[in-house]
Amino acid sequence: MASETTSEAPNGGASARAEISPEAGVVVTCEVRGTDDPASAAKAAADAAGLAVAKHMGALPKQAIAGEGSYQGIVGQSQPMLDLFRMLERIKGSSATVLITGENGTGKELVAHAIHDLSNRAKSRFVATNCSAFNDNLLESELFGHRRGSFTGAVADKPGLFEVADGGTFFLDEVGDMSPALQVKLLRVLQEGVFMPVGATEQSKVDTRIVAATNRDLTAMVKEGSFREDLYYRLHVVALKVPALRERRDDIPILVAHFMARLAERDGRQKVLSQRAQQHLMAHGWPGNVRECENEIERLWVLSGDEGVIGEEHLTPTIRNGTRPGPGPRSSAGGEAGPGMVQISSRTLPEAVETLERAMILDGLKTAKGNKTRAAEALGISRRNLIRKVQAYGLDGAWNDKGKA
Ligand SMILES: Nc1ncnc2c1ncn2[C@@H]1O[C@H](COP(=O)(O)OP(=O)(O)OP(=O)(O)O)[C@@H](O)[C@H]1O
Ligand SMILES: [Mg+2]
Repeated sequence: MASETTSEAPNGGASARAEISPEAGVVVTCEVRGTDDPASAAKAAADAAGLAVAKHMGALPKQAIAGEGSYQGIVGQSQPMLDLFRMLERIKGSSATVLITGENGTGKELVAHAIHDLSNRAKSRFVATNCSAFNDNLLESELFGHRRGSFTGAVADKPGLFEVADGGTFFLDEVGDMSPALQVKLLRVLQEGVFMPVGATEQSKVDTRIVAATNRDLTAMVKEGSFREDLYYRLHVVALKVPALRERRDDIPILVAHFMARLAERDGRQKVLSQRAQQHLMAHGWPGNVRECENEIERLWVLSGDEGVIGEEHLTPTIRNGTRPGPGPRSSAGGEAGPGMVQISSRTLPEAVETLERAMILDGLKTAKGNKTRAAEALGISRRNLIRKVQAYGLDGAWNDKGKA
């Protein structure tokens, strides 16, 4: 059966279009446009191919395929992420201080990079440091630099990171972990752009934009007196909150597809997730947010070895056992077994794709009580495309309004 599953993936200036034909193998055409750079061409081609396979398997909503669903490398299409992208767009010309908040692994550092890349400081450096990684003395020297002889081991003058980032952006991660003494010094940089290197007798001046991040509740810390209120307001000029993944569950499928496509590009091969594996991933609570999702996909990719379809058995037990996927496609599609199971025993990927596609279409029609418009919408394909597939698979009349499949 011929399929017209196509996918567009823009990557910088490059964009690629991949088309799947199960008859001929998997991806048969992959056009790349708008670049002479082999690296971005390969990236765009791999993305398009990965998305086309995922779309073909019914894994993705339409928006992700159209190359929407990401902004400056930040994948997301849920309302909270669209609001965040809108804010980033709004502040892109400014050098205002930004405070990024959000739980661990939500993408705060990715957002900080986007802020820098979108600013007119993009050609200068983006320098990052983590305030919780050093003790007070070391952090002070790291941030502001030191003069030779100012402490044992200070054998030469060393510039601080504020100076290294002069003209660019300085990302202060975990700013909530900064000691009160250093908070005062940071406040001076923010107010006057000046600081005193350790052991120096004169102040240094810099033009560094500060983007800070924390997973802590700074307003609560201000109330209890462990974070300076004046510093809080200085940092809070623009405040961005990166939502937890459980608050934007619509993003799970495109994040999964994104990480799969990246691995596909890295390894030069395609894989897809079984329907059950997808259901478990969709149902999981993701307390570790996007980082947990990224790690899980990489784990699945590695553990599934040479298998082209990644089964649920490779999932981390907490994800596999903690969630109960609802009944998925089932029987009468040929090759499937048991409620909620699509047993893909086909020898080739095209056969596996057909088996799953047929089962998903049947399930989609059943859920939509035979309404093709709604079924097509749920499956992420056009109504015309659905009708063609229904005919090709001989599923006409497979569902009638008495609920019989
Ligand atoms: N929306 C996203 N799209 C694509 N990749 C993402 C997204 N959000 C996070 N990631 C990836 O997830 C990982 C964690 O992101 P990041 O380090 O930016 O999170 P963080 O909020 O700074 O985490 P922490 O609080 O632990 O420092 C990174 O590998 C990042 O590339
Ligand atoms: Mg971080």
